[in-house]
Amino acid sequence: MKIFIAQPIQPVAVEILKKVAEVHFNPEGRPLSRKEFLKNIGDVEAVILPWHTDVMDREALGIAARLQVIGRHGVGYDNIDLEAATERGIYVTFTPVLAPTMADTTFALLMAAARLIPQADRFVKAGQWTLGGEWVPWKFLGLDLHHKTLGIIGCGRVGAGVARRARGFDMRILYHDEVERPDVEAETGAKKVALDELLREAEFVSVTCALNERTRGLLGARQFAMMKPTAVLVNTARGPVLDQAALAEALQSRRIAAAGLDVFVEEPIPPGDPLLGLENVVVLPHIGSATLENRCKMGVTVAEDVVSVLTGKQPTYLLNPRVREVRPLG
Ligand code: DGY
Repeated sequence: MKIFIAQPIQPVAVEILKKVAEVHFNPEGRPLSRKEFLKNIGDVEAVILPWHTDVMDREALGIAARLQVIGRHGVGYDNIDLEAATERGIYVTFTPVLAPTMADTTFALLMAAARLIPQADRFVKAGQWTLGGEWVPWKFLGLDLHHKTLGIIGCGRVGAGVARRARGFDMRILYHDEVERPDVEAETGAKKVALDELLREAEFVSVTCALNERTRGLLGARQFAMMKPTAVLVNTARGPVLDQAALAEALQSRRIAAAGLDVFVEEPIPPGDPLLGLENVVVLPHIGSATLENRCKMGVTVAEDVVSVLTGKQPTYLLNPRVREVRPLG
């Protein structure tokens, strides 16, 4: 059996895979072009997709004729045609174990954007502790998080983790989701509200929903206009949930106060993008899950689930449970 790993994962995970199959790595040592990616999946039983950038659509699934399992090393599955995979009896696994790390990153961005941490860091490193010889304690006046209202858009595992962290900051928590989360409500006092109410009331807005046809473009000029001028927006989900040009405009005109962004419509974000020229924006290069401990955990999780499917056992984290009816495992 053959497994193709499209981009590097932690060695501890590779060792698990090697016990059951021949493991093939991306031969280029850089993200593959579409053509290169397709060339590597023709004769494999498993594909591991470390990032959301390699796309398993109907074309790719048609080429990967022997495929039994796709292991998504991550949680976003906007790059996988789940329905087509299910029709073909292909199991699609994922790694929700990353949720606490993602919640940490979301909180780090909230703090960094609200308290002007990167701006102050740049100031000191540029040798500017003082201005004209005077200490400048008035310069970096940020916004308090504690006792404010946080609005969480998408209260799944990551959103729930953000709510728990916010509780420690004595924040009032609102959330918007398609489903009720009585467990999160009981634990954190969060209240489910309509999106417009959340946007009007929240001082901090955290986007942690999946990207799908219902959430694409969920926040645009109309929604930014509803927010408080002191509001801080953080997106650790997917870029296209927001209208990025409208966001840049809202930040530039100070319609909203600040943003912290780990994800963008186009990645890498093009060098001339207006967001990069704004002082009230903190940007990260899509590194929400980037801790060594977490990446090992994600690697082991995806490897164990891929091995389970290849050896006829049920995986722990399955994205398309209906596949069990199409191709039951032992
Ligand atoms: C995820 O888990 O979906 C991350 O965004 C990385 O692809």
